[in-house]
Amino acid sequence: MIKVLFVCLGNICRSPMAEYIFKDMVKKQGLEGKFYIDSAATSTEEIGNPVHYGTRNKLEQMNIECGNHTARRITKQDYEIFDYIIAMEEQNMVNIKRIVGDDKEQKIYKLLDFSDNPRDIADPWYTGNFDKTYEDIKEGLEGFMEYLKKKDPILRRD
Ligand code: 4NP
Repeated sequence: MIKVLFVCLGNICRSPMAEYIFKDMVKKQGLEGKFYIDSAATSTEEIGNPVHYGTRNKLEQMNIECGNHTARRITKQDYEIFDYIIAMEEQNMVNIKRIVGDDKEQKIYKLLDFSDNPRDIADPWYTGNFDKTYEDIKEGLEGFMEYLKKKDPILRRD
């Protein structure tokens, strides 16, 4: 089982969008049993709050199932549980390390580092542009899946 945790600042816009798009990709590729996928925040700002309507609307528009995730903060224990901790932007990486400590096992990545054009994913909480967020996240997730398939034998079809 590959355990993936997506992380952003509030855990209501970008990281739940990544969680649900990735769950959808995994399901469509028949890989559901091989993954455990969740998302979390670095801040305490939105703890307990549901997925932002901008993310919910975009997922609905793309026919992607949006579950009932409520925002939670990443913990030190998450670092032990998850194999991949995937941040949306550079500042998330800094904040994650403040909470979990040094990335001794090199589990912390930035989503768009898996794309051909590494960059941050802008926060739609500020930009209001959930279409751009969706495109950026999709690009990163496709690169991530490709990376996993090359690396992890449990994802190969024989
Ligand atoms: P997210 O967006 O990190 O993509 O979930 C944000 C949501 C809420 C806040 C900041 C960013 N906030 O400050 O409450």
